Amino acid sequence: MSYFRDNVERTAGYTPGFQPKAPEVVKLNTNENPYPPSPRVMKTLARIKPEQLRRYPDPLGNAFREAAAELNGVRPENIMCCNGGDDLLSIAIRAFCDERRPLAYPVPTYSLYPVLARLQDCRAIEIPFGEKFDLPAQLAMTGAALTMVCNPNAPTGSVVPVEELASLADRLAGVLLVDEAYVDFAEQNCASLVRDFENVIVLRSLSKGYSLAGLRFGYAIAQKDLIDGLIKVKDSYNVDALAIALATTALKDQAYFRRNVEKIKKQREVLSEQLRSLGFAVPDSRSNFVFARVADDSAARIHEQLAQRNIFVRYWNAPGIQDKLRISVGTKEQNAKLISALKEILSAGGDKS
Ligand SMILES: Cc1ncc(COP(=O)(O)O)c(C=O)c1O
Repeated sequence: MSYFRDNVERTAGYTPGFQPKAPEVVKLNTNENPYPPSPRVMKTLARIKPEQLRRYPDPLGNAFREAAAELNGVRPENIMCCNGGDDLLSIAIRAFCDERRPLAYPVPTYSLYPVLARLQDCRAIEIPFGEKFDLPAQLAMTGAALTMVCNPNAPTGSVVPVEELASLADRLAGVLLVDEAYVDFAEQNCASLVRDFENVIVLRSLSKGYSLAGLRFGYAIAQKDLIDGLIKVKDSYNVDALAIALATTALKDQAYFRRNVEKIKKQREVLSEQLRSLGFAVPDSRSNFVFARVADDSAARIHEQLAQRNIFVRYWNAPGIQDKLRISVGTKEQNAKLISALKEILSAGGDKS
């Protein structure tokens, strides 16, 4: 006998990427930013007063909402803070989905979506992306209460143009959530859709472009009615006082943010080229990772042999993607270590040692 609801009992739960403890490893498996957060964030941290910890935080994180509204050309009432983008995904599924109100999304995509659907006991309608990771036409016709499109997509790094997402929003009867966790590394974003569409929610994360994965901070952009509804569902104090202060400082230091993003985009192109010259098929990425296809069936072995050398990348033994490695873009030095290890592994060929 289980104490849990049937769907919880049946769910394996999400498997987060491995978090090795040793500081000297080359960690390219969870798409963190290889550079530290803005030095201004560390100054804000040093100035935190005991009083800020003694009292409950602002439930809406208004200081952050104002900064995010200014950055995205919307009003503070169009912003909701969350405890990482994952918090928003879970709030949205709880707000819109149940046994009779399904979730839909194109696949392959972020492996947390089906886990959240199972926990909420709602049906997950999975529609395969087109050949070139273009949006499948059937996505507009599922009748889902909530449709999620990860853009740039994970783990493929591909993007769908904003106009296509606008057209999807226009045709959907339900809500469209555009997961822009990786948008800092792309050329376009969907913030402007929020003006025209009452059914669009844009998800942002400070884990990637702002180097704050450990802080847990993200936000939603949407029209006021949607934001007000989501606020009813979230924990009252879903973002803590430290997080609000540090995330606000980070968002305001746009010069530092842009410098790091440009460095990563440059390294992304270098890394993609180097991997191609080693025989990997690497589609163009608009993210802070690349999705490299291995020519034979050795992706799992390469993943393992890299780990033995303290170089961590992500591998899924899942249909359609078991021949690929997802590699976060690191610093120039980290990428060089990866490439030289790959040269060694590939030249040893089938040697399993
Ligand atoms: C596609 C996608 N969406 C959302 C998130 C959530 O990011 P976080 O909760 O760190 O803000 C991630 C994290 O890796 C992601 O890959």
